[in-house]
Amino acid sequence: MSELVIKDLHVSVKGKPILKGVNLTLRQGETLALLGPNGHGKSTLLSAIMGHPSFTVDSGSITLDGKDVLAMTVDERSKAGVFLAMQYPPEIPGVNSADFYKAAMNERRERPMSLFQFFSGLQAAYKEIGIPFEMSNRNLNEGFSGGERKRNEILQMKLLDPKFALLDEIDSGLDVDAMQIVAKAIEEEEAKGKGFLVVSHYARLYEMIHPTRAAVMVNGRIAVEGGPELIKRIDTQGYEWIKTELGIPVEKEEGPMNKVSIGVCATKEALGK
Ligand SMILES: Nc1ncnc2c1ncn2[C@@H]1O[C@H](COP(=O)(O)OP(=O)(O)OP(=O)(O)O)[C@@H](O)[C@H]1O
Ligand SMILES: [Mg+2]
Repeated sequence: MSELVIKDLHVSVKGKPILKGVNLTLRQGETLALLGPNGHGKSTLLSAIMGHPSFTVDSGSITLDGKDVLAMTVDERSKAGVFLAMQYPPEIPGVNSADFYKAAMNERRERPMSLFQFFSGLQAAYKEIGIPFEMSNRNLNEGFSGGERKRNEILQMKLLDPKFALLDEIDSGLDVDAMQIVAKAIEEEEAKGKGFLVVSHYARLYEMIHPTRAAVMVNGRIAVEGGPELIKRIDTQGYEWIKTELGIPVEKEEGPMNKVSIGVCATKEALGK
């Protein structure tokens, strides 16, 4: 069974430390829910695992079955079996979706697939995720709605068939039907042995996919780990108890961003009037 192991990970963005010692292990066949207040480092963790160039790993390690993930390029990480469904999937103008999928799938095979094999697989995947097949002819995410982009991320996950899928707020923007389709796809892939790290702010998706474990990220560290009951507690009580019970102050973003906002009152406050 494969394991993705993160040890004492410190990551910064533009010189600002965001992750301050993350320890987390993800095994194949399990679904780990990752929760935490806004801006506390969840997306930073997922981006660092995938190798996003904006995030600098200052210290710590990430290994996949003992292999050093941090020494791999992004495409090597992908071929090793790591997949990231981004919180904000970008538009890639000029890159046709079907061409992109074909190139990505052929990259992980010794010999390229036949066109028939590729298109019949692609058609089946589009049908399963409930996306009109005509969209495979459009440029990747170009002009796609928020929900369409999220569905598209799950479609990519199915086509690339990773060992570990990191899903960053995959439920945001999905309508009720799409949420059910996505949840079903996650459960099926989990049963086949994939490991999932799922970030969401809402209990609804978690109720559908039944995570095996949960972890809460606060101030760039995993403040608490537990079973699915942790999700319910956060859904009903928020994060305040982490401060009162565990003695961990939940840091808020500081500085001028909080003081200056659009509006006369805020401007007056900022000017000290
Ligand atoms: N490219 C960047 N430039 C500057 N700051 C950044 C950048 N990316 C992330 N940050 C900062 O890093 C911190 C952690 O952000 P991150 O996106 O990891 O939070 P999150 O836990 O995923 O929040 P949310 O629940 O809102 O998605 C935030 O303060 C954010 O502003
Ligand atoms: Mg995020």
